[in-house]
Amino acid sequence: QDLRIARIASAIRAIPDFPKPGIMFQDITTLLLDPEAFKDSIDLFVERYKDKNISVVAGIEARGFIFGPPIALAIGAKFVPMRKPGKLPGEVISEEYSLEYGTDVMEMHVGAVQEGDRALVVDDLIATGGTLGAAISLLERVGVTVVECACLIELHELKGRENIHAAGAANSLRISVIQKKGVDQR
Ligand code: PRP
Ligand code: MG
Repeated sequence: QDLRIARIASAIRAIPDFPKPGIMFQDITTLLLDPEAFKDSIDLFVERYKDKNISVVAGIEARGFIFGPPIALAIGAKFVPMRKPGKLPGEVISEEYSLEYGTDVMEMHVGAVQEGDRALVVDDLIATGGTLGAAISLLERVGVTVVECACLIELHELKGRENIHAAGAANSLRISVIQKKGVDQR
Protein backbone atom coordinates (compact mmCIF):
# COMPACT_ATOMS: atom_id res chain seq x y z
CA GLN A 1 0.00 0.00 0.00
CA ASP A 2 2.72 2.49 0.99
CA LEU A 3 4.68 1.37 -2.03
CA ARG A 4 1.78 2.14 -4.30
CA ILE A 5 1.22 5.52 -2.66
CA ALA A 6 4.90 6.36 -3.03
CA ARG A 7 4.77 5.44 -6.71
CA ILE A 8 1.69 7.59 -7.25
CA ALA A 9 3.26 10.48 -5.36
CA SER A 10 6.40 10.41 -7.44
CA ALA A 11 4.39 10.29 -10.67
CA ILE A 12 2.67 13.59 -9.82
CA ARG A 13 4.72 16.58 -10.86
CA ALA A 14 4.84 20.00 -9.24
CA ILE A 15 5.26 22.98 -11.54
CA PRO A 16 6.20 26.29 -9.96
CA ASP A 17 4.55 29.57 -10.92
CA PHE A 18 1.58 28.09 -12.76
CA PRO A 19 -0.95 29.46 -13.50
CA LYS A 20 0.34 32.49 -11.59
CA PRO A 21 3.64 33.46 -9.96
CA GLY A 22 3.93 31.95 -6.49
CA ILE A 23 1.61 29.01 -7.20
CA MET A 24 3.07 25.51 -7.12
CA PHE A 25 0.80 23.59 -9.49
CA GLN A 26 0.20 19.90 -8.79
CA ASP A 27 0.09 18.28 -12.22
CA ILE A 28 -1.55 14.85 -12.42
CA THR A 29 -1.01 14.52 -16.20
CA THR A 30 2.35 12.86 -15.56
CA LEU A 31 0.57 10.23 -13.44
CA LEU A 32 -1.59 9.46 -16.49
CA LEU A 33 1.58 8.73 -18.50
CA ASP A 34 2.49 5.92 -16.09
CA PRO A 35 -0.15 3.20 -16.57
CA GLU A 36 0.94 1.23 -13.49
CA ALA A 37 0.84 4.22 -11.17
CA PHE A 38 -2.43 5.47 -12.69
CA LYS A 39 -3.96 2.02 -12.19
CA ASP A 40 -2.67 1.94 -8.61
CA SER A 41 -4.44 5.22 -7.90
CA ILE A 42 -7.74 3.85 -9.22
CA ASP A 43 -7.27 0.51 -7.44
CA LEU A 44 -6.69 2.16 -4.06
CA PHE A 45 -9.99 4.00 -4.35
CA VAL A 46 -11.82 0.94 -5.67
CA GLU A 47 -10.56 -1.17 -2.74
CA ARG A 48 -11.83 1.45 -0.32
CA TYR A 49 -15.24 2.00 -1.89
CA LYS A 50 -16.29 -1.28 -3.47
CA ASP A 51 -18.28 -2.53 -0.48
CA LYS A 52 -19.74 0.80 0.63
CA ASN A 53 -23.01 0.58 -1.30
CA ILE A 54 -22.17 3.56 -3.46
CA SER A 55 -24.72 4.06 -6.23
CA VAL A 56 -23.26 7.17 -7.83
CA VAL A 57 -19.80 8.57 -8.44
CA ALA A 58 -19.98 12.35 -8.92
CA GLY A 59 -16.94 13.64 -10.80
CA ILE A 60 -15.99 17.31 -10.73
CA GLU A 61 -15.00 19.03 -13.95
CA ALA A 62 -12.36 18.81 -15.22
CA ARG A 63 -9.95 16.54 -13.44
CA GLY A 64 -12.60 14.61 -11.54
CA PHE A 65 -13.67 13.40 -15.01
CA ILE A 66 -10.35 11.55 -15.31
CA PHE A 67 -10.46 9.63 -12.03
CA GLY A 68 -14.21 9.29 -11.49
CA PRO A 69 -15.30 7.08 -14.41
CA PRO A 70 -12.83 4.22 -13.92
CA ILE A 71 -13.77 4.11 -10.22
CA ALA A 72 -17.49 4.14 -11.10
CA LEU A 73 -17.10 1.28 -13.60
CA ALA A 74 -15.12 -0.81 -11.16
CA ILE A 75 -17.55 -0.44 -8.28
CA GLY A 76 -20.67 -0.71 -10.44
CA ALA A 77 -21.97 2.80 -9.81
CA LYS A 78 -23.37 5.34 -12.24
CA PHE A 79 -21.18 8.33 -13.12
CA VAL A 80 -22.55 11.87 -12.89
CA PRO A 81 -20.57 14.87 -14.15
CA MET A 82 -20.64 18.04 -12.03
CA ARG A 83 -19.94 20.76 -14.56
CA LYS A 84 -19.00 24.41 -14.97
CA PRO A 85 -22.00 26.60 -15.85
CA GLY A 86 -23.59 26.45 -19.28
CA LYS A 87 -22.09 23.10 -20.29
CA LEU A 88 -24.92 20.69 -19.54
CA PRO A 89 -27.70 20.64 -22.16
CA GLY A 90 -30.61 19.47 -20.00
CA GLU A 91 -32.36 21.03 -17.04
CA VAL A 92 -29.81 21.69 -14.29
CA ILE A 93 -29.62 22.43 -10.61
CA SER A 94 -26.81 24.84 -9.67
CA GLU A 95 -24.78 25.78 -6.66
CA GLU A 96 -22.76 28.96 -6.32
CA TYR A 97 -19.54 28.83 -4.32
CA SER A 98 -16.69 31.15 -3.42
CA LEU A 99 -13.24 31.11 -4.85
CA GLU A 100 -10.23 33.03 -3.62
CA TYR A 101 -11.51 35.99 -5.62
CA GLY A 102 -15.13 35.98 -6.69
CA THR A 103 -17.53 33.10 -7.13
CA ASP A 104 -18.12 30.15 -9.43
CA VAL A 105 -21.10 27.93 -10.19
CA MET A 106 -21.35 24.16 -10.39
CA GLU A 107 -24.17 22.41 -12.24
CA MET A 108 -25.67 18.92 -12.34
CA HIS A 109 -28.45 17.49 -14.50
CA VAL A 110 -31.84 17.21 -12.85
CA GLY A 111 -32.78 13.54 -12.76
CA ALA A 112 -29.18 12.28 -12.81
CA VAL A 113 -29.47 11.29 -9.16
CA GLN A 114 -32.40 10.24 -7.04
CA GLU A 115 -33.26 10.74 -3.41
CA GLY A 116 -31.63 7.89 -1.52
CA ASP A 117 -28.64 7.60 -3.84
CA ARG A 118 -25.32 7.19 -2.03
CA ALA A 119 -22.55 9.25 -3.57
CA LEU A 120 -18.80 9.28 -3.74
CA VAL A 121 -17.48 12.67 -4.91
CA VAL A 122 -14.23 12.48 -6.88
CA ASP A 123 -11.72 15.19 -7.74
CA ASP A 124 -7.97 15.32 -8.18
CA LEU A 125 -7.21 17.81 -5.44
CA ILE A 126 -8.64 19.61 -2.45
CA ALA A 127 -7.31 23.10 -1.75
CA THR A 128 -9.73 25.41 0.09
CA GLY A 129 -12.51 22.82 -0.10
CA GLY A 130 -14.85 25.26 -1.87
CA THR A 131 -15.30 22.99 -4.86
CA LEU A 132 -16.01 19.81 -2.90
CA GLY A 133 -18.25 21.78 -0.55
CA ALA A 134 -20.37 22.92 -3.50
CA ALA A 135 -20.64 19.37 -4.83
CA ILE A 136 -21.73 18.11 -1.42
CA SER A 137 -24.38 20.84 -1.06
CA LEU A 138 -25.73 20.19 -4.53
CA LEU A 139 -26.09 16.46 -3.89
CA GLU A 140 -27.55 16.89 -0.42
CA ARG A 141 -30.11 19.38 -1.72
CA VAL A 142 -31.64 16.61 -3.82
CA GLY A 143 -31.62 14.04 -1.05
CA VAL A 144 -28.41 12.20 -1.87
CA THR A 145 -26.18 10.92 0.93
CA VAL A 146 -22.55 11.86 0.37
CA VAL A 147 -20.63 8.90 1.72
CA GLU A 148 -17.18 10.33 1.17
CA CYS A 149 -15.05 12.54 -1.04
CA ALA A 150 -11.96 11.13 -2.70
CA CYS A 151 -9.00 13.18 -3.91
CA LEU A 152 -5.42 12.31 -4.69
CA ILE A 153 -3.89 15.46 -3.32
CA GLU A 154 -4.64 17.59 -0.29
CA LEU A 155 -3.04 20.98 0.24
CA HIS A 156 -3.16 20.91 4.02
CA GLU A 157 -2.23 24.55 4.47
CA LEU A 158 -5.48 25.65 2.88
CA LYS A 159 -7.55 23.76 5.45
CA GLY A 160 -10.09 22.42 2.97
CA ARG A 161 -11.16 19.64 5.29
CA GLU A 162 -11.88 22.06 8.12
CA ASN A 163 -13.71 24.44 5.79
CA ILE A 164 -16.00 21.69 4.53
CA HIS A 165 -16.79 20.54 8.05
CA ALA A 166 -17.41 24.11 9.16
CA ALA A 167 -19.84 24.60 6.29
CA GLY A 168 -22.30 22.35 8.07
CA ALA A 169 -24.43 19.52 6.81
CA ALA A 170 -21.67 17.15 5.82
CA ASN A 171 -20.44 16.51 9.32
CA SER A 172 -19.68 12.89 8.79
CA LEU A 173 -17.72 13.67 5.67
CA ARG A 174 -14.36 12.04 5.31
CA ILE A 175 -11.84 12.67 2.63
CA SER A 176 -9.52 9.94 1.56
CA VAL A 177 -6.30 11.27 0.24
CA ILE A 178 -3.86 8.85 -1.18
CA GLN A 179 -1.21 11.42 -1.52
CA LYS A 180 -0.52 14.17 0.96
CA LYS A 181 1.71 16.94 -0.23
CA GLY A 182 3.18 19.59 1.93
CA VAL A 183 3.15 22.52 -0.41
CA ASP A 184 2.44 26.14 0.20
CA GLN A 185 -0.28 26.63 -2.33
CA ARG A 186 -2.04 25.02 -5.20
C1 PRP B 1 -8.81 22.74 -9.09
C2 PRP B 1 -8.80 21.31 -8.62
C3 PRP B 1 -10.05 21.22 -7.79
C4 PRP B 1 -10.19 22.61 -7.20
C5 PRP B 1 -9.79 22.61 -5.75
O1 PRP B 1 -9.68 22.84 -10.18
O2 PRP B 1 -8.85 20.40 -9.74
O3 PRP B 1 -11.19 20.94 -8.59
O4 PRP B 1 -9.31 23.45 -7.95
O5 PRP B 1 -9.83 23.90 -5.21
P1 PRP B 1 -10.64 24.27 -3.90
O6 PRP B 1 -10.54 23.13 -2.94
O7 PRP B 1 -9.97 25.49 -3.39
O8 PRP B 1 -12.06 24.54 -4.33
P2 PRP B 1 -9.78 24.12 -11.12
O9 PRP B 1 -10.80 25.04 -10.56
O10 PRP B 1 -8.40 24.68 -11.28
O11 PRP B 1 -10.35 23.59 -12.49
P3 PRP B 1 -10.06 22.30 -13.43
O12 PRP B 1 -10.09 21.05 -12.61
O13 PRP B 1 -11.19 22.36 -14.39
O14 PRP B 1 -8.73 22.49 -14.09
MG1 MG C 1 -10.73 20.91 -10.67
